[in-house]
Amino acid sequence: MLRQIALFALAALPGSLAQVTEGFENGWDQTAWPTYALDCSQGGTVALDTSTAHSGKASIKVTGAGGYCGHIFVGTTKVPSSGDIYVRTWLKASKALTDSHVSFITMPDSAQGAKKHLRIGGQSKILMYNRESDDATLPDLSPNGIAASKALPTGSWQCFEYKLGADGSIDTWLNGEAIAGLTTNSSNTNAAQWTRSSLKPKITGVYFGWESYGGDTNTFNYDDIAIASTRVGCT
Ligand SMILES: *[C@@H]1O[C@H](CO)[C@@H](O)[C@H](O)[C@H]1NC(C)=O
Repeated sequence: MLRQIALFALAALPGSLAQVTEGFENGWDQTAWPTYALDCSQGGTVALDTSTAHSGKASIKVTGAGGYCGHIFVGTTKVPSSGDIYVRTWLKASKALTDSHVSFITMPDSAQGAKKHLRIGGQSKILMYNRESDDATLPDLSPNGIAASKALPTGSWQCFEYKLGADGSIDTWLNGEAIAGLTTNSSNTNAAQWTRSSLKPKITGVYFGWESYGGDTNTFNYDDIAIASTRVGCT
């Protein structure tokens, strides 16, 4: 009987229930949340941080070193295998995005091929996406494209959310507000480079951290991460 109730409850789970939620309050489970540093790992570190948190007492801290091999990420492969994917994280960056290209979220993307990633980071001092296989950016890094995105505030917790639609679309929110330059829908006139490919991302993991292709270093804290099939929001 109990088992039947449990099964029924599972079947009746609301769509909004997150696939993954993690606030690191019970520590850093390195099996569920492994580090990720493809090809090389020189200098970047990941640690549980009990000195700052968005909620509770702990967050995960990524200290990213300069150069590609200074990269380090921590994340999960537990992502919805089909349908829309929504990711929400609270994050705190210690330094502003510069003109140099960096990534703070990387996602292995089998649609692009082996060892290729859909990446979220910065360039031209604003938030942007980068598709590793053809190096396309969203938005286009023209003056108008740059103006259509946003800088990432430093030193305080920010709610960063994005959607990877099953149809290949992307939408992004910072503290609940959509970022006009970081959507692929027709309202974005600065998505020409991105949309010249019809590739639909097929991600197999989401990893939070730091990777810089110049010399930039940074420290990011991540907390209250949620990965789900519907939008989770900031609260
Ligand atoms: C397109 O994206 C923007 C920014 O995310 C959003 O405000 C707008 O409602 C979207 N438009 C459509 C037609 O989906």
